[in-house]
Amino acid sequence: MTWTDCSAANSRLEPRITADGSFSLWSESFDQAFHSARGAIEEARTTFLAPAGLEGLAPRSDVAVLELCVGTGTNTAQLLDRCRKLDLKLRWWGLESDRRPLQLALADPRFRCQCSEQSLELLDSLAKTGSCRAGPMLWGDARQSLQNLMPKVEAQCDLVIHDAFSPRVCPELWSLEFLTLVARCLKPEGRIVTYCSAAAVRQCLKLVGLHQAGLPPPTGSGPHQWSGGTVASWKVLELKPPLQAFTAMELEHQLTRAAQPYRDPRLNATSEQIRQDRQQKQLLGTGLSTSAWRRRWQGEAGLTDPGRFPPS
Ligand SMILES: C[S@@+](CC[C@H](N)C(=O)[O-])C[C@H]1O[C@@H](n2cnc3c(N)ncnc32)[C@H](O)[C@@H]1O
Repeated sequence: MTWTDCSAANSRLEPRITADGSFSLWSESFDQAFHSARGAIEEARTTFLAPAGLEGLAPRSDVAVLELCVGTGTNTAQLLDRCRKLDLKLRWWGLESDRRPLQLALADPRFRCQCSEQSLELLDSLAKTGSCRAGPMLWGDARQSLQNLMPKVEAQCDLVIHDAFSPRVCPELWSLEFLTLVARCLKPEGRIVTYCSAAAVRQCLKLVGLHQAGLPPPTGSGPHQWSGGTVASWKVLELKPPLQAFTAMELEHQLTRAAQPYRDPRLNATSEQIRQDRQQKQLLGTGLSTSAWRRRWQGEAGLTDPGRFPPS
């Protein structure tokens, strides 16, 4: 597939090179970048792998990973390399609705250059056959795929990498109902790791009954970026770096209207329906004003929405 084929499709995907030199994409339909502008590989390592707890596992251990929103396969490639380095036996399931990001990445020499030969071999196999030695790729809406996959993954996962677009543009993958399903995949000590620190998502994880920790803002980020993401588990999380307790500002964020959950009772609503339903509940709700919270902390942190990065 070429960029021209891609532009001809009903929504464009455009290549981007991020600050660490690694390959990424920008999606026209979601109006959002696939990775942090500071670096796709940097994000895979610091946001998703550093808090995953893989280093604590003994060599030759089995590790089961569910990856939500595989996209270009950047996180997958980094995960494969890390498991190989730590001599872990990876069992993997990948969920993704669009085949193009992986095809486009694999067709681009800049992406191929940044991957190890071993990871490329597995990604090529995923793109061609829908599976690789580590496990299968399930193409389609992750809400449906995960329901189908449940008999295989329920209470099996050491790690869930949740890398959907932000809740504002992709609320269907951050609803209370979807996150309930995701949580059911975890072993008691398993972890969900995400870049997202939205109050609504943290509120859903709390309602599901998970314990949570925050991640520090990326090194070198400005004062506007107040969080680097969220980790959640059925067990109380040991607050070893990079995991940290929520700050007073984050705790207060949870009391605002921004913490109104996204709801998708039958796991088939459109994003517009989910957003509208939430907006109506926010109008009726009694939560603190989110703008007052923002004003209150603005002086200290110069707050902006820590959601996903605008197009470059
Ligand atoms: C932020 S990107 C993922 C980036 C990816 N982890 C990577 O390393 O390239 C979000 C991905 O979610 C996918 N997506 C959007 N809606 C989805 C849905 N309902 N089910 C499954 N995947 C979805 C998009 O096609 C896109 O590839």
